[in-house]
Amino acid sequence: MAFMDKIVINGGNRLTGKIDISGAKNAALAIVPAAILTKEICRIENLPDISDVSIMLKILNTLGAHVRMINRNTVEIDARNVQFYTVPYEQTKHLRASYYFIGALLGRFGKAHVAMPGGCNFGGVRPIDQHVKGFESLGAKVSIEENAIVNAEADTLFGSAIYLDTVSVGATINIMLAAVRAKGLTVIENAAKEPHIVDLANFLNSMGADVRGAGTDVIKIHGVEEMHGCSYSIIPDQIEAGTYMVAAAAAGGDVLINNVIPKHMESITAKLIECGIEVEEFDDSILIKSDHRPTRCNIKTMPHPGFPTDMQPQMAVLLSIAEGTSIINESVWDSRFRYVEQLAHMGACIKVDGKIAVIEGVEHLKGAPVKADDLRAGAAMIIAGLVASGTTEVENVVYIDRGYEDIVGKLAGVGADIRRVRITDPESRIQIS
Ligand code: EPZ
Repeated sequence: MAFMDKIVINGGNRLTGKIDISGAKNAALAIVPAAILTKEICRIENLPDISDVSIMLKILNTLGAHVRMINRNTVEIDARNVQFYTVPYEQTKHLRASYYFIGALLGRFGKAHVAMPGGCNFGGVRPIDQHVKGFESLGAKVSIEENAIVNAEADTLFGSAIYLDTVSVGATINIMLAAVRAKGLTVIENAAKEPHIVDLANFLNSMGADVRGAGTDVIKIHGVEEMHGCSYSIIPDQIEAGTYMVAAAAAGGDVLINNVIPKHMESITAKLIECGIEVEEFDDSILIKSDHRPTRCNIKTMPHPGFPTDMQPQMAVLLSIAEGTSIINESVWDSRFRYVEQLAHMGACIKVDGKIAVIEGVEHLKGAPVKADDLRAGAAMIIAGLVASGTTEVENVVYIDRGYEDIVGKLAGVGADIRRVRITDPESRIQIS
């Protein structure tokens, strides 16, 4: 029986209480494939319980690794018996991060046949030319075969200097995965500096790699012969935390966002303060207090430490009810404003022209049936539902499950009137699941 889930929100509640943040999705998606680089066991803790991670673990399993879930947030990976180097499209189509298996398999075996990735399609092309440039610099022969299989092979990988033409999280990660066991020194210049790059570097170093400079725009990697097992805990998710900070700011209330690294949140905190939201930082938590209408501000998304593009849709919801007119400049992706059409159904007044969105703040949003176009757009629809008067139903929840562990439970826990309902099929009765 086909069924689909919806998230139903009755808006208007203030949010009060504490939300615990899970492990970082974009760190986990790089760290899980990295376990291939050793024949010993890697124990990974604080793994977010989200569908993207489950898919990556399944791919690992089909490659021959033994994957043992200790609990929903802890896994032990034993990759000694990995013997396949092919990841087919029916597996890679689900998520972009599947291409990290190219770097990991290349790093371990010198060969990888991985189908081009799928994943969130928020418009625009998502090329991998910088990944290919990196692999080729290390001495790999890379070709795109029929049915979009990326073939990468090298008898031996040799360290080299690689300048990234554009700051790319994925390319930086993929090159790190291939380079840690290459012979000699690899220097990645114009590298991405996101917290998940640093987390991957720390994980690799705990396996005996020699990665220095992660978090700056020059990463130096001295290749090592062998890497060993380790036990590692993933950093908290900067974007999940930012999503709940913006939700509390938009809905109003008094919410402690717990298990965060405040330094990772600096650009988001700065923008919320600019909007007149009260933000108080503690060692590993941030308190958001909001009891009046936010004021406008301008946003330009940038690679870290700039304002994260993955927070752009969520921030647009806050600005759509702010006092005054705000401008968002999406400088990272070609077109990441598809969600604006959904927000307009709720009464938002946003004009998009290419990479620029002009948002004229309105007093109220009205609940409506909307859909999640992608992961972060889905999170934005939920925030809009919390703020709007009346009922909002968000479809395509499957996108939200890719990157948010128990978003309904976490928001209900601070007083939101939110629930997940399962529809057996559009005509049939709604079943509360
Ligand atoms: C990662 O995607 C994240 N995904 C994205 O988050 C995030 O939006 C993005 O980084 C930017 O922070 C994961 O970590 C799994 P990029 P990635 O390579 O690596 C261009 C989410 O919501 N580019 O940094 O694909 C590219 O077109 C997801 O969690 C090239 O031109 O992003 C883009 O304009 C959505 N050639 C820019 O660089 C390349 O070879 C940044 O892309 C690679 C990228």
